[in-house]
Amino acid sequence: MVKKYSVKELLNKEKLFINKKVLVEGWIRSFRYSIFITLNDGSTVKNLQIILSNKLEKKIIKKITIGSSIRVIGIVKKSIGTKQCIELQSLDIIIYESINTEILQKSILQPKKHSLEKLREQAHLRFRTNIFSCIMRIRHHIAFCIHKYFHEHGFFYLHTPIITTSNCEGTGKMFQITTMDFKSKTIDYKKDFFKCKTYLSVSGQLEAETASLGLGRVYTFGPVFRAENSNTSRHLSEFWMIEPEIAFYHLEENINLAEDFLKFIIKYIVENSMEDLVFLNQYLEKYNRKKDNFLLEKLELILKFPFKKISYTEAVKILDQEEKEKNIKFLHPIIWGMDLQSEHEQYLVDKYFKIPVIIFDYPCNIKAFYMRMNDDGKTVRAMDILFPEIGEIIGGSQREERYDILLQRMKDTNTDQNKLWWYLDTRRFGSVPHSGFGLGFDRLVQFITGMNNIRDVIPFPRTPNHAEF
Ligand code: 4AD
Ligand code: MG
Repeated sequence: MVKKYSVKELLNKEKLFINKKVLVEGWIRSFRYSIFITLNDGSTVKNLQIILSNKLEKKIIKKITIGSSIRVIGIVKKSIGTKQCIELQSLDIIIYESINTEILQKSILQPKKHSLEKLREQAHLRFRTNIFSCIMRIRHHIAFCIHKYFHEHGFFYLHTPIITTSNCEGTGKMFQITTMDFKSKTIDYKKDFFKCKTYLSVSGQLEAETASLGLGRVYTFGPVFRAENSNTSRHLSEFWMIEPEIAFYHLEENINLAEDFLKFIIKYIVENSMEDLVFLNQYLEKYNRKKDNFLLEKLELILKFPFKKISYTEAVKILDQEEKEKNIKFLHPIIWGMDLQSEHEQYLVDKYFKIPVIIFDYPCNIKAFYMRMNDDGKTVRAMDILFPEIGEIIGGSQREERYDILLQRMKDTNTDQNKLWWYLDTRRFGSVPHSGFGLGFDRLVQFITGMNNIRDVIPFPRTPNHAEF
């Protein structure tokens, strides 16, 4: 039996395989002069060159088309060409399925430039393109090193529920779930599956808090759902969020953890996904007119300097001053107490500091009920991390651990205490200061891969009007 290898295995240890008989399988990327096949199997962005035997029958050669899936047994040889170090001299070839040229012409496998929007329309073939497979491999490595980071820092992976009865963030709409049919006009939720109104969760935070107050350090990593009608390049209706929650932790420790965590991930990707990053870098230079080495320099910049840390009040002061002194006109007014808009965030990160910015101590009236009230009675111990190009990547806070103040905040924000009795209980049995944050996974993948649109970094994007595939 001839042993099967992936293209990556063969190309990574080229020298070991010279003159050995191997089996590889994959899809044809190109076929030239009826003799050279470039084969890709998804394991790497690189292709393996196959040299067909000149004894191959014409009827087989006819079936060899771009996109066809094949199995090849051959001998690995040192390549004479300059593009690759090794090639495979084929002894035996099986074509699993060849693609009819008419169908091929309508597909994104056709070797020419296709827009990323076009790729989204052919969900299954998208995975076979260089650009998307690079992004998906990087996405995997990011997820992997997130688990690695937490595991090595004493965190336990917690699975929080997807079905919930409450909106933890208090803002935005949720997707309702039900097994009832809505033919009748009066809906009695007591007759529904859970005997109450239920939704898809916007965050696992409240459950993560309850677990952290026993386990110490936990994190979630799962899908969350938001039914906001925000059709932007940074919003998905279903996205993945990582939410660490740490008992006995103050805001400063939370901020430091978040910065260390982001830097760890980016360093890991630079060290482990260089091949794919280099491909994306070239893609961005060619098609997005980005300057040379744009992507790699952008990632290095994150690692190089400490993030800038300023309070919300300081941020407002800077923006106000810039508007007055430099004659910059923002579309939205800068008034203390109002939420910062993306234009303000972008100005601070891309123009003013030119590095990631952490803003803390936001006004309480623009943040969720669970954030810890400061002594000034006006601001809460919130923190947002803003990144170049994409803006908010992390949102977090120290939590309100004092029962009475939390109860009052729930009343002030119209948060239903009856539904959250179990959450309130966490403040009645040895409550402690604790903190946590939420990292938007897809936004991070978007940042690392340099894509303009978040829909191009998730396998099956869910956005308003789009739930196909
Ligand atoms: O700031 P958010 O809403 O925070 C929370 O949900 C807290 N419960 C987190 C916590 O403290 N445990 O969301 C966190 C992050 C944002 O910073 C952003 O990166 C991302 O989630 N995010 C989205 N990503 C894609 N599409 C959307 N619609 C997103 N909304 C938020
Ligand atoms: Mg936020």
